[in-house]
Amino acid sequence: MCGRRISVADPPRSPGSRWTAICPVSRLIEQTFVRARIGGNDLILIWDGGRAIACERACPHEQADLSRGRLSKGRLFCPRHAASFDLDDGSITAGWPSRALRIYPVQIAEEQVWIDAEAVTSAAS
Ligand code: FES
Repeated sequence: MCGRRISVADPPRSPGSRWTAICPVSRLIEQTFVRARIGGNDLILIWDGGRAIACERACPHEQADLSRGRLSKGRLFCPRHAASFDLDDGSITAGWPSRALRIYPVQIAEEQVWIDAEAVTSAAS
C-alpha cells in the first residue's frame, strides 16, 4: 500500500467537452488501478499492456469492487467469485449469468487520461 489518497470526487470538466480528465498517465502507470467518479457513477481506470482502459467499478454479477481485482492476459478477474472480463469488449467468462462489463471510451492527451463522460452517463441511464 502506497498510502496515497485516491480521489473519487468528480473531476473538473471543460464546458462543452464530453471528455473529462481523470489523472496523469504517470499515476495510472504507477498504480495500475485508479478509481474515479463521473456523474455519480463509480469507475476504474486500468493500465494493462501499455494501454488505458476505463470500466465500471462494480462487478455486474454481485457488485464486488473490481478495483480490488487482478489482471491477467488482458482480463480483469473479480475478487469475489473470480469471473473474469475481457478488457477489449467487457465480455464475461462463458457460463456466468451476468451481463458484460461496461467499457468506456478513453484517450490519452496532454499527459492526462480522459474518459468520455457522456458515454458514462448515457450507459447508466
Ligand atoms: S461479484 Fe464478481 S463474479 Fe461474483
